[in-house]
Amino acid sequence: MWTPAASSAAPARTSLLGILCRAYAGPGDEVLYSQHGFLMYAIAAKACGAVPVTAPETDLTASVDNLLKAVTPKTKIVFLANPNNPTGTYLPAEEVKRLRAGLRDDVLLVIDAAYAEFVSKNDYTPGIELVDAGANTVMCRTFSKIYALGGLRLGWAYCPAGIADVLNRVRNPFNVSSAALAAGEAALEDAAYMELCKGHNDYWLGWTSAELKKLGLTLTPSVGNFVLVQFPKEAGKDAVSADAYLRSRGIIVRAMGGYGLGDWLRISIGTGEENQAVVAALADFLAQWK
Ligand SMILES: Cc1ncc(COP(=O)(O)O)c(C=O)c1O
Repeated sequence: MWTPAASSAAPARTSLLGILCRAYAGPGDEVLYSQHGFLMYAIAAKACGAVPVTAPETDLTASVDNLLKAVTPKTKIVFLANPNNPTGTYLPAEEVKRLRAGLRDDVLLVIDAAYAEFVSKNDYTPGIELVDAGANTVMCRTFSKIYALGGLRLGWAYCPAGIADVLNRVRNPFNVSSAALAAGEAALEDAAYMELCKGHNDYWLGWTSAELKKLGLTLTPSVGNFVLVQFPKEAGKDAVSADAYLRSRGIIVRAMGGYGLGDWLRISIGTGEENQAVVAALADFLAQWK
């Protein structure tokens, strides 16, 4: 395990995102993120009186050019979920480096690498090297995803010492419980189980994506532990109807209207049986129209 220059534990990342906003943005400032970026960025920005600003994406993927174009003198923080929830798409390390290089030094870049452990791409990094480069960059991680400890609300940031100092002053005292810390440490020590979970996701992400494509559905190239699936616009075949049909079969997926992606559903990778059940249910749903 590498030794962080400075790190800061906080009660799960959504809270860490809020602490970052409270510390580095306020009324009149702008917090920038990509069009279909994780919705907590807008909520955290608004909660501290800042204005959330989005930059258009290309093929449901963050665009460095568009993010840089959207920067104004009021921009204080840029959030980049890499990979992003709900699109599942990611930016290669070189693109994130280009984003950092194109930002003013006083703009904080927060790389939210919640799904980093799931990614199997040679050109991907969670961004540790950008934090180490000494720039104004923070990387956030969580125990809620591959470690499946969401209920314990445990996350952490790797950041320059000065930023860790600020976060430690802004956060509430004793904001992480000792039970959560003990569970987090135990999870990190159990590397074999993490690899097992990653192997499971690698296999079933590929299988589920391929099967849904065989049904004629469109998917983003997700590298996370979920797929984002597009449905036709016609009434009866649309995402709302698919969602209702899946529920009638006891399967709960995530509707995406809140992200401006009303034609899409996000489906988490589950156990083998669950993945087979969702594919079978969608095959039956679509077969009604043949
Ligand atoms: C991109 C992204 N960042 C952060 C989080 C929040 O994670 P936590 O449970 O640590 O608050 C999520 C959870 O959905 C996420 O998708």
